[in-house]
Amino acid sequence: MTPYFVTATGTDIGKTYVTAGIIRAARQAGQDAMGIKPIMSGYNEFNPEASDAGALLAAMGKPVTEQTIAAISPWRFTAPLSPDMAASREKRSLSLRSILTFCRIAAEAAPGLMLIEGVGGAMVPLDNFYTVRDWISALEIPAILVAGTYLGTISHTLTAVEALQARQVTISATVLSQSLSSPVPPDETAYAMAKFVPRIPIFTIPRHNNETAFKRLAWALSPHQPAAVRA
Ligand SMILES: Nc1ncnc2c1ncn2[C@@H]1O[C@H](COP(=O)(O)OP(=O)(O)OP(=O)(O)O)[C@@H](O)[C@H]1O
Ligand SMILES: [Mg+2]
Repeated sequence: MTPYFVTATGTDIGKTYVTAGIIRAARQAGQDAMGIKPIMSGYNEFNPEASDAGALLAAMGKPVTEQTIAAISPWRFTAPLSPDMAASREKRSLSLRSILTFCRIAAEAAPGLMLIEGVGGAMVPLDNFYTVRDWISALEIPAILVAGTYLGTISHTLTAVEALQARQVTISATVLSQSLSSPVPPDETAYAMAKFVPRIPIFTIPRHNNETAFKRLAWALSPHQPAAVRA
């Protein structure tokens, strides 16, 4: 197993887009790759294809059914809110311990690349005590930090890096997924950011013609790389 936790600087930044793109590129290169999305809020059971789990299943070449969605996304909530708030709307709560067990079992069963998509940004609350960063840190697996290329992304990204590193989370890659509105080309943002995080590889995913960019990213994360490169 080669697990990574896909987190982001915030919600709607590109975690699912990047996770699905890595899975497709890895599979096209003949590697095993799968993704799970343990917690989903804003889930509409009448349109599962449109959900994050639906997008990950499509990337894995699997059908989208009630069963396949439940298998990779056991905690689903209707309200499009942070997990703690979405759960409390349904008089439910999340147990970090159960989420960790689910992720560990899924990661151990995966023969190749296993991407665990988080929820929202790295500091989103799961309940009254824990945030996504506690989830990543308890799993003791490296993170992929997805960020945008909008004006302000450098500060948001460096803040997320600090928050993750404060809990000893290894960030294997920062992925700049091009935002709808970018003041400069993504590579220029990557260059400016790199000076502050020289040890973290930065990848850019343009909005169009990004097959090669995904191939390069999937290769860098691949189980065939020596562990020192991946970590
Ligand atoms: N590089 C990109 N090229 C084209 N579209 C993109 C890119 N990055 C993100 N998007 C689009 O931006 C929107 C938000 O992305 P996505 O759903 O992946 O975010 P997310 O971080 O997974 O959000 P959530 O917190 O809800 O899980 C989607 O419509 C997605 O297709
Ligand atoms: Mg998502």
